[in-house]
Amino acid sequence: MPADTHARRHADDAAASAEPASRPGGGGDGAWTGGETGGRAVVTADTSADASASAAVDATVEFGAAASVAAAPASARAGRPAASGSPAAPGPLPGPDPAWTDPAWTDQPLLRPLTLGSLTLPNRVVMAPLTRARAQNDGLVPTDLHALYYGQRAGAGLIVTEGVSVSERAIGFVHVPGLFTEEQVEGWRRVTGVVHALGGRIVAQLCHIGGASHPDLLGGARPAGPSAIDPEEMAYTADGFQPTGTPRAMTGADIDTAVEDFASAARNARRAGFDGVEIHAVGSYLIPQFLNPQLNRRTDAYGGDAEGRRQLLLRIVDAAAEAWPGERRVGVRLSPYWTAKRFRPDAALLADYDAAVAALNDRPVAYLHLRGPDPEAPGRPDFAAFRRYRELFRGPVLVNNGFDRASGNAAVEEGIADAVAYGAGFIANPDLVTRFALDRAPAAGDPATFYIGGAEGYVDYPISG
Ligand SMILES: Cc1cc2nc3c(=O)[nH]c(=O)nc-3n(C[C@H](O)[C@H](O)[C@H](O)COP(=O)(O)O)c2cc1C
Repeated sequence: MPADTHARRHADDAAASAEPASRPGGGGDGAWTGGETGGRAVVTADTSADASASAAVDATVEFGAAASVAAAPASARAGRPAASGSPAAPGPLPGPDPAWTDPAWTDQPLLRPLTLGSLTLPNRVVMAPLTRARAQNDGLVPTDLHALYYGQRAGAGLIVTEGVSVSERAIGFVHVPGLFTEEQVEGWRRVTGVVHALGGRIVAQLCHIGGASHPDLLGGARPAGPSAIDPEEMAYTADGFQPTGTPRAMTGADIDTAVEDFASAARNARRAGFDGVEIHAVGSYLIPQFLNPQLNRRTDAYGGDAEGRRQLLLRIVDAAAEAWPGERRVGVRLSPYWTAKRFRPDAALLADYDAAVAALNDRPVAYLHLRGPDPEAPGRPDFAAFRRYRELFRGPVLVNNGFDRASGNAAVEEGIADAVAYGAGFIANPDLVTRFALDRAPAAGDPATFYIGGAEGYVDYPISG
């Protein structure tokens, strides 16, 4: 989605998140219907795609005495003495006082563990995807600055990376890192390694901007979209924002290539140690261009009616899922309520999205991630807008757009969502989860530094003092 839209909406969001969050009413298990809980979280970060490059990390964390047992040597865990000849092994470490319980203020729905397909999260505070334009090198390679930025945020239940270009053809924003060269895979490996070492989980958001790109971002080539219709967006180039033009209509071969670009980026994500991928199908990008009858006037298998218009999404999901046979490590991010010059969330478009979401039920999707409508008041999203999808989709649902601590807890408590994604919150608060746990007010970010490159406004936000 275009930077101006991000920046404009983020200015409001940041102001909203700067307000002190109030405590959630209630708490406890009452209406909560999400994944497993019970005070035990099995945290598995499987980075085993390339055994030579990365090892599976499987850490079991239990609240109470068992946590100490899991951390103790195997012999101690089994209650056996250390083998003779080896140095005296310590006995099981003492656990907390048996009378100890989670303090009431950490017993929030957002802080409970959750299973998302093949992933297990220790909490439900997800870092939303955030384009930050820090890959300022010719190869669009993530650097140690990215590793530092994501490592600082490893306390999130799940990190969704910034939208990452699946190929050179997919680029739509300056200085966005890719996932289509070996150099980029190596760069991401350092990022995922740091996040995993710090106990986090991270998926790559796979992104293709289609007809909303600009020739300046594509080596002079004309962008391609579903039909030759200008999406009337602004593309962020090295010379700043520039209006989009009329793209060329993708051929059948172009569509096959785009699907393969997502497939190979998913394979690369696995090799780079990511825990999964999220398909970027939001804003005015390629997949929503195909879903939108205003921009998709095709008469072939990828247009004509709603069933045709959703074929590209479904093919991409299937292709990405092949990177993890038998597992569920592909999330899908949709924005049915997206409003722009060429996007109107009218009843007909919402019905098309309903059918697309229902079709995802037949696929190995780990989760559905919904960007909801822009909230009318800060911190007060329209729960009914999300509930619609809760009823349609059988897997875990993540919600986003304008949530604060109180409304996020309420969304999980009321069963509208399994987890809540925070964008603005994570820009300025690397320790957002801790702040939620302690009910400390989040800081506001500076929209002027969102895309400026470098460390300023990126890795210099402090943790709560
Ligand atoms: C600086 C910035 C960059 C963003 N980049 C992306 C992106 O790459 N992919 C995406 O799906 N959404 C992107 N978004 C949207 C956010 O993920 C999120 O939907 C938005 O910030 C609203 O959530 P919030 O109210 O918690 O901030 C971006 C938003 C901002 C502010």
